[in-house]
Amino acid sequence: MRNLPPKLLLILCSCSLITALPGADRVYSLPWIGAITDFGLYSGYLPIPGTLKQLHYVTALSQSNWQTDPVIVWFNGGPGCSSMLGFFQEHGPYVQENGAQNFSANEWSWNREASVVYIESPAGVGYSICPDEVECAFDDDNSALDNLAAILQLMTSKFPELQKNELYISGESYAGVFVPKLAEQLDYMIGNCTENKSCSYIPNFKGFLVGNGLTDPEQHTRDTQLEMFYYFGMVDQYHYTQISKYCLKMDYQREECEDWWNEVELAASWVNPFDLYGKCYLNDNAARYARFMEQPQYAGMLKIGKQKVGSTPPCLWDGVLIGYLNQDDVKEALHIIPQAKKWDVCYDMLNYASGIGSLDIYTKLRGKYRMLKYSGDTDAVVSIYGTREWINRLNWDITREWHMFHISGHQVGGYVEYRENDTFVFANIHGAGHMAPQDKREASYHVISKFIKKEII
Ligand SMILES: *[C@@H]1O[C@H](CO)[C@@H](O)[C@H](O)[C@H]1NC(C)=O
Ligand SMILES: *[C@@H]1O[C@H](CO)[C@@H](O)[C@H](O)[C@H]1NC(C)=O
Ligand SMILES: *[C@@H]1O[C@H](CO)[C@@H](O)[C@H](O)[C@H]1NC(C)=O
Ligand SMILES: *[C@@H]1O[C@H](CO)[C@@H](O)[C@H](O)[C@H]1NC(C)=O
Repeated sequence: MRNLPPKLLLILCSCSLITALPGADRVYSLPWIGAITDFGLYSGYLPIPGTLKQLHYVTALSQSNWQTDPVIVWFNGGPGCSSMLGFFQEHGPYVQENGAQNFSANEWSWNREASVVYIESPAGVGYSICPDEVECAFDDDNSALDNLAAILQLMTSKFPELQKNELYISGESYAGVFVPKLAEQLDYMIGNCTENKSCSYIPNFKGFLVGNGLTDPEQHTRDTQLEMFYYFGMVDQYHYTQISKYCLKMDYQREECEDWWNEVELAASWVNPFDLYGKCYLNDNAARYARFMEQPQYAGMLKIGKQKVGSTPPCLWDGVLIGYLNQDDVKEALHIIPQAKKWDVCYDMLNYASGIGSLDIYTKLRGKYRMLKYSGDTDAVVSIYGTREWINRLNWDITREWHMFHISGHQVGGYVEYRENDTFVFANIHGAGHMAPQDKREASYHVISKFIKKEII
């Protein structure tokens, strides 16, 4: 039944739906990929009420049972990077492997057992529409309100059929801030709606998933990068010892600290910071690399403080995707409107003032929603060292000790630990980098699918 065109579906379905699946947004085929027959694919815009902003979304309905399977909403990070990376490279149904010229079917697509929604946020990113600079000055709070508005649009005017399904929100990198901030807003809304009983839709929000996400900026600094570079054998003991001894907590005012750090950066340059054992695709981005490594506190994807983002991530295989997403036939297939500017991986000019991370929200929502934090362990940008540090500091009781999990062929997929009566899960995706679902497709899928099915990993 899920393959029927939406109109026919409505006629056959005697339920009292106000709207049907958004027929105008349906994507029946895509250039290079061909007809999409196994599930419903949708692409369109979510207007932010009271503004001229419109966020672009792609929904891949579940390949199993979209009527009952959970909904997972996904955000890439930056701030300023496009969720089309998640869709076309990390965990969508058709993905571009590193180094490949074309797409291939992804056996481990997240829409195997869930409907997955990719939102390009905030306005101005990717195909999303930012009408003017005043409306598009963002911080962690107003971007969360826009994301909440987008989800309400999605669930009320586009996919009311999905309202009763379990809802999870997810993301990677700087979405380690976007996602908990949005969870907080969802929690407020649910609280208010329950109290005033006047909401026609109350999200069936169950929890959130964050991959290699920035959470506590204090734990993702040069200090933790140095740990990575040293323990991966890229930096010698002299620099490690001197910096650890004399320059801790980023005391780089001292001239010798700055000199030592420059030498560390030199030793780490030309290595893919997102995946230390992965290939660094140079293409045309040597200049990008230099800018990236010059960032004062955070590797480029994670800038803190009021400033333009100003750099696109280096070493990624993205040239083919950039070309593809700017083709007229692709834009037409995805219903991209003329106001959209040239699509890019990250929007360099995004005006975004970052705050203090999202650790406080974990404490606030403790035990109330289910939380999964997964980390690829070869990522030097948001390293597992720093992540382990803030998780330990939460000091929540361990309910299942750190243990390995296996995937096909009895291979170790990674390690996992449960805390807070199993409501908090911390997983290490063994041998994966910053984009863990792209680097280790099966192991990542194993973790997220067990999590949404409430099975023990
Ligand atoms: C991509 O692969 C599909 C089949 O898998 C093929 O039809 C198409 O021509 C390829 N496109 C390019 C640009 O290579
Ligand atoms: C209602 O929402 C406001 C923020 O909009 C929040 O401060 C308040 O805690 C919410 N009330 C409940 C009961 O959740
Ligand atoms: C009830 O709470 C919701 C969610 O915060 C809000 O949008 C709505 O305006 C409230 N209704 C009333 C009557 O206060
Ligand atoms: C732990 O979770 C179980 C099952 O949801 C529940 O019955 C129990 O009360 C919880 N215990 C605590 C300490 O929260």
